[in-house]
Amino acid sequence: MSLVITNIGELMTQDLRNGADAAVLRDAAVVLEGERVSWLGPAASAPAADESFDAGGRALLPGWVDSHTHLIFAGDRTAEFEARMAGQSYSAGGIAVTMEATRSTGDFDLTRLAMGRVAEAVSQGTTYIETKTGYGLDVENEARSARIASTVVDEVTYLGAHLVPAGADPDEYTDLVCGPMLDAVRPYVRWADVFCERGAFSEEQSRRVLTSCRDAGLGLRVHGNQLGTGAGVRLATEFGAASVDHVNYLDDDDVASLAESWSGWDAVTGHGARGTVATALPACDLSTRQPLAPGRQLLDAGVQLALASNCNPGTSYTSSMAFCVTTAVLQMGLSVHEAVRAATYGGALALGRESGMDADGVRAVGSIAVGHRADLHLLNAPAATHLAYRPGIPLTAAVWRAGVRQS
Ligand code: NIG
Repeated sequence: MSLVITNIGELMTQDLRNGADAAVLRDAAVVLEGERVSWLGPAASAPAADESFDAGGRALLPGWVDSHTHLIFAGDRTAEFEARMAGQSYSAGGIAVTMEATRSTGDFDLTRLAMGRVAEAVSQGTTYIETKTGYGLDVENEARSARIASTVVDEVTYLGAHLVPAGADPDEYTDLVCGPMLDAVRPYVRWADVFCERGAFSEEQSRRVLTSCRDAGLGLRVHGNQLGTGAGVRLATEFGAASVDHVNYLDDDDVASLAESWSGWDAVTGHGARGTVATALPACDLSTRQPLAPGRQLLDAGVQLALASNCNPGTSYTSSMAFCVTTAVLQMGLSVHEAVRAATYGGALALGRESGMDADGVRAVGSIAVGHRADLHLLNAPAATHLAYRPGIPLTAAVWRAGVRQS
């Protein structure tokens, strides 16, 4: 089945291969065939298709790629949020509250809750989603979380190293994370992550987690530099992690090492050695009253940036990527094009899904190009600028995920 989308006001492809000007097209049409984009170009030369859709002069973007969420959880942390708004600071300890609620919730309900969160995200234009374990924190519950996650999202990350459960010895728990727990989650996950922060995992413990997970064949990600300066970014670049997330407190060496990691990569063609993406989580920064990640500084230094929702019950209970884009423009100094790029192509880069088709059969996401997955987001606006120009207004008009109309 094929579909031609015509009368597009602004087609923001995020594909730079034919020059920056070609990344935003006017008077264009897009043809979807099955799960893929099969053609795009001037509307006047669009081929015939089985069906057609008139975009009514509205803007068409790649679907959002949300590369950092924690959707496998039960329970509620409203009281913690209220306390924070009254002046208390965020600490990793709240993770234990969600761990208790998650452990005592059965598979059916945990799956239903996660599916509801994915549906909420998709209805707002998100078409590719990563999620993490990290609220199980024992072998059985981490494996259960990974298994459930693998049935509801596109990419699963093992985050047994989220918090040392109360009463556990930190080094013994790290051994568990690096051994039996890793073995139990391994069939379900593509990535591993570690919360490298004071109050969570030390540099030495983080190093052990990253080493074991790398040796087990997993791609690496790091929660780093969220609550203060520290070893997170340094470890992420040293281990060649695909992404380091949060990045609120960076010193000059951190920025330089992230920039250096991209020195062998061509941002236009996407060829060369990929570095470590810096993933900013602006909704989390606002909800925890942390300084916003220095997105402008990172881009100016030549670092590839992603924006993600960090949807979780503790620090960022929203799946709205549009809110993240709006905040990045209004508060972080990004242009609309840069913010949309970070929330689409940047997320794909952070997940290693920005080009080609992987050995596991997943098509490229995060940009609109022939052969890529047909993940599209139609806005109820003539231009993507309206995402920042009309903050808070729900602008999603239609979503296609792998070629299938969602809303
Ligand atoms: O990415 N920082 C660590 N993990 C989550 C928060 C988890 C929680 O507090 O429940 C985050 O912000």
